[in-house]
Amino acid sequence: MAVWTHRWWHPARAATAGAALALAAGPAALAAPAGVAPPPATAAPAPADGEALYRQNCASCHGDQGQGAQRGPSLIGVGAASVDFQVGTGRMPIPHETQQPRRAEPVFSADEIAALVAHVTSFGGGGPAIPRVGPGRLPTGRELFAANCAPCHGGTGAGAPLTNGWIAPPLYDATPVQVAEAVRVGPGLMPVFPSQVLTDQQVDDLAAYVQRLRSERLDRGGNPLGRLGPLAEGLVAWVVTLGLLVAAARWLGRRAGE
Ligand code: HEC
Ligand code: HEC
Repeated sequence: MAVWTHRWWHPARAATAGAALALAAGPAALAAPAGVAPPPATAAPAPADGEALYRQNCASCHGDQGQGAQRGPSLIGVGAASVDFQVGTGRMPIPHETQQPRRAEPVFSADEIAALVAHVTSFGGGGPAIPRVGPGRLPTGRELFAANCAPCHGGTGAGAPLTNGWIAPPLYDATPVQVAEAVRVGPGLMPVFPSQVLTDQQVDDLAAYVQRLRSERLDRGGNPLGRLGPLAEGLVAWVVTLGLLVAAARWLGRRAGE
C-alpha cells in the first residue's frame, strides 16, 4: 500500500487573485437541451450539494474533513485552483490511487464542480484561487514555454514520458484557465511555478501560447473540417513537387536545345 505523504507537500503555493470560474461541461444532467422550453418552476433542480458529493465521491480516499487517508493526500490548503483543476479535467475521482491521474471527461457538471470546490476549500488552509486569465503575448509565451515547459511537455506540447511509466501529458485539451491552474498548483510530478517565478502576465502569455500550439497541431495533423488530412496533404505536396521537377527538367532541356 502506497504511503501518501512525501510528494503532496508543495512548499510554495502562490495565491493568485481570481474568481471562481466554473468550467467543463460534464454530463450536465440538469441542463435543458437547447431549444427546449425550461421545465416548470416546481421541477427546478436543487443546488448541487458539495458536502454530499464529497462524502460520496472523495471522502473514502481524502478523509471526511479532507485530512488525508491511506489512499489519498490531505486536501487542506490545496486551494480552489487545485480542486477545480483535478475535478474539471476529470482526473478526480480517480479509480485507483496507484495510477497517475489522467485527463478524462469530467464526471460532474460545472455547478457540481463549483460546489465541490466550495466544500473542499471550507476545510481551510488557503491555497491558490482559480486564476483569472487575461490576454497574452505570443512571442513571450513561446520563450517562456521553451524555457519552463518544453523540457517535460515537448516543444510542440505533445507530451512525453517522465519516469516509472508516468507521463507529462499532451496539452491540447487544456483550457487557458486549466493551463494557469496547472502552473500555479503543480499537479503530480509537475513543479509549482509561484508568482515570484512566473508573474500573472507571464502565465497569461503561456496560456495564449498553449492555445496556439493546439491550433498549430490541428494544422499539422489536418483538420477534418475542410482540410485534406496528413496523407492527402503529403500527396498534394508530392505532386506539386513532381510538377515543379518536370517543369524544371523541360526548362533545362529547352535551354540545352537552344
Ligand atoms: C517536470 C516536468 C514538468 C514541467 C517542467 C511542466 N510540467 Fe506540466 N505537467 C507535468 C505532469 C507530470 C503533469 C500531469 C500531472 C498529473 O499527474 O496529473 C502535467 C500537467 C500539465 C497540464 C494539464 C494537462 C491536461 O490537459 O490535463 C498542463 C496544462 C500543464 N502541465 C502545463 C504546463 C506548463 C504551462 C508548464 C510550464 C510553465 C509545465 N506544465 C511544466 C509535468 C511538467
Ligand atoms: C481512489 C482514491 C481517490 C478518490 C476517490 C479521489 N481522490 Fe483525489 N487524489 C487521490 C490521490 C492518490 C491523489 C494524488 C494524485 C497524484 O498523483 O497527483 C489525489 C489528488 C487530489 C487533489 C490534488 C491535491 C494536491 O495536492 O493538489 C485534489 C484537489 C483531489 N484529489 C480532489 C479530489 C476530489 C474533489 C475527489 C472527489 C470528487 C477526489 N479527489 C477523489 C485519490 C483519490
